[in-house]
Amino acid sequence: MNDSPHAFLGQLGTQVLLSRCIAMMAEIGIADLVAERPQTSEELAVACNVNADALMRILRFLAANGVFQADASGAISNTAISELLRRTQGSLRDQVRSSWQDVIWDTYRQLPETLRTGEPAFDKAFGMSFFDYLSAHQDIGARFDASMALMSMPENAVLAAAYPFHGTVVDVAGGHGGLISAILRKHRDVRGVLFDQAQVLQYVAKLLVAEQLDRCSLCAGDFFTSLPADGDVYVLKRVLHDWTDAEAIRILRACRAALHASSRVLVIDAVLRPGNAPDPNKMLDVGIMALTRGRERTAADFQRLFDAAGLKLLRIIPPTAPSAMSIIEGGL
Ligand SMILES: C[S@@+](CC[C@H](N)C(=O)[O-])C[C@H]1O[C@@H](n2cnc3c(N)ncnc32)[C@H](O)[C@@H]1O
Repeated sequence: MNDSPHAFLGQLGTQVLLSRCIAMMAEIGIADLVAERPQTSEELAVACNVNADALMRILRFLAANGVFQADASGAISNTAISELLRRTQGSLRDQVRSSWQDVIWDTYRQLPETLRTGEPAFDKAFGMSFFDYLSAHQDIGARFDASMALMSMPENAVLAAAYPFHGTVVDVAGGHGGLISAILRKHRDVRGVLFDQAQVLQYVAKLLVAEQLDRCSLCAGDFFTSLPADGDVYVLKRVLHDWTDAEAIRILRACRAALHASSRVLVIDAVLRPGNAPDPNKMLDVGIMALTRGRERTAADFQRLFDAAGLKLLRIIPPTAPSAMSIIEGGL
């Protein structure tokens, strides 16, 4: 980017078009096609049933921004960035695909409503909450779950290694079980309990490999009400950020009620960097504000939540790449 503030701001304003074009290319699967062999935009247009001139102009624009590249004969291939649009593990394809992005675009159109009222733009755009919408639209819901699971895969192994997990580990709202699997793989003497809503757990049994299921039980319930007792470590990964402070405190209180004297609660979430420090989680926070009533939090915010729930905040373990989440450890 040009250093002049004028040029910088002008270019920022056009990022919306860049983002839309990336989403469209992800949707039609260009990165997978050119991974097989470099191809011209004419060949790609035939394969994707789109207009060749429009595709060429979009790819030229993207290549000028480091997404895809063309050689002297016009054959398109992947760059390290466009490689991330392939259908591969750790890819960002599901996150940026346009059918999912359409939901985001309609939401962001209503952001002025969030600015005015503090209420989620999503509710205004779709007349229901984000999570109700995901349940009602199973195709989008499945895509959301898949992108979360893919995104979590590389970070789960890092998180499993970042803490001395021991005894019985209860993964509260553990979703499809990626983290508890990684913990059981890393710590052979740990027993796992995967706690989530009944409708989520019904998919889980087949996802956990048999060897780990032997050491992992499934428990359906509501984390606002009560959690399985006698756990040694209660994990809440990417859970509190979906909820308001009042709701997060209720979840932490339910954890507190299940703890014994030496149990630990691990909140695994972003901890926002103070002041003007650059931090991708500050972008995530505004994104979450548009979608739900949740929020990303600072260390001081977590201290307040723990105090209100009657828990001691013992320490914050900073993130290890590729995870951007800290481990906030609490106890009685
Ligand atoms: C953002 S996902 C986090 C999943 C997982 N911890 C991860 O990091 O991939 C939130 C999870 O909370 C679960 N959840 C939502 N409301 C719940 C409730 N009242 N009781 C238990 N689980 C709930 C959802 O089913 C979902 O699996």
